[in-house]
Amino acid sequence: MDIEEKVKLIRENLDKEIKSVQSTNDLSNLKVKYLGKKGCVTELTHDMANLSIEEKKEIGRISNELKSRVDAIFSECEEALKNKELEKKIASEKIDITLPSTKISVGSANILEKLIEEMEELFVSMGYDVVEGPEVEKDLYNFELLNLPKGHPARDAQDTFYTYESTLLLRSQTSPVQIRTMLKNKDKTPLRVICPGKTYRRDDDDATHSHQFTQIEGLLVDKNVSLADLKGTFDVVAKKFFGEERKTRFRPSFYPFTEPSVELDISCFNCEGKGCSICKGTGWITVGGAGIVNHNVLDNCGYDSTVWSGFAFGFGAERLAMLKYGISDIRTFYTNDLRIKDNFDRKDND
Ligand code: DAH
Repeated sequence: MDIEEKVKLIRENLDKEIKSVQSTNDLSNLKVKYLGKKGCVTELTHDMANLSIEEKKEIGRISNELKSRVDAIFSECEEALKNKELEKKIASEKIDITLPSTKISVGSANILEKLIEEMEELFVSMGYDVVEGPEVEKDLYNFELLNLPKGHPARDAQDTFYTYESTLLLRSQTSPVQIRTMLKNKDKTPLRVICPGKTYRRDDDDATHSHQFTQIEGLLVDKNVSLADLKGTFDVVAKKFFGEERKTRFRPSFYPFTEPSVELDISCFNCEGKGCSICKGTGWITVGGAGIVNHNVLDNCGYDSTVWSGFAFGFGAERLAMLKYGISDIRTFYTNDLRIKDNFDRKDND
C-alpha cells in the first residue's frame, strides 16, 4: 500500500472512530492510537532508512499534514466534549425556584416582652416617658416613702426577699420607681411616666404565682387630677388590649400609697359579662390596682400636696398576657420551650 492510500485509510478510520467518542477518556485513548509512539500516524515515518532524500521529504510533508489535520480533529472533538460536559453541569445545577424553601427558624420576642412594648408604645403616644429603676431596692423607696412605714400591716401582703443588709431588698413592686421619679424631678413639674420591670415576692411557684413576675407601673402628677382622668386612661388601655367593646369599672380597695384606692376591672372578654370560668361567674376581670396618689406620698417626695395631685396604677404584666393570650400557667413565660414561641408566632401571623 503506498503512502497516499495509507493516509486515506487513516483519515477514513478516524472520521468513523471520532464519532463514537463520548468522554475525555475515549478521546485520550484515541489520541494514543493515532498519535502515540506506536500510533498509526507516527508509524508512517518509520522504516524510511532505505528511501531517498526526496522520498523522505515527501513522506515527511504528507505525514506532517496528516498530523496537523488529526490534531485539529482532536481539538474540535475536545472542545465539543467540554461544551457538552458544561451543559450537563449547568443542567444538573439548575435551581427550581418553585420548590418550597427550607424553613429557617428565626428568633422573636417573648409574648410578655411584646405586651410590655405595646403598653409602652400606647403610653408614649399619650405623652408618657418610660423609666426604669433598680431591682435591688431600698426599703425606703419600696415601702417607707410609699406610706408603708416599718411594722405597717400592709407590708405583710408583699412577702419580701430581704438582703443581708436590712435596708435593701428585692423590690416587691414597681411602685418605688414612682418615688425615684418624683424625687429626681427637682423642679417639681408635671410628670407622666410608665415603669415596667421585674418584681419579686416569696411566693411558691405554681400556675398563677411566680417568685419573680413583672409589673407595669404608671404615674401621672399634675394639678387637679381626678379619678375621672384615671378612668379615661384605663378605658384606653382596656380597649387597646382587650377590644373596643370592653367596659371598665373601679372597685373600692386599699393601698397605702393611694387614697382613694381602686381595683381595675374590665368586662369579661370571654363571656361579654354573662359569667364564665375566666371571670369566675362575675362578668368582670381584675387586671390591676390604682388610685389617687396619697398626699403623704406627694409630700414625702417634695410635691406640695395642696397644689399637686396625681393618679397611679399598677398592672400585672403576666396576668394581662395570660388573659390576652389564653395562657393558664404563668410558668409558660419562663420556659425555653420553642414550641410555645412558635405557637404564639403563628397566632400573631394569623
Ligand atoms: N403596687 C401594687 C401591688 O403590687 C399595685 C398598685 C396599686 C400600684 C395601686 C399602684 C397603685 O401604683 O396606685 O399590688
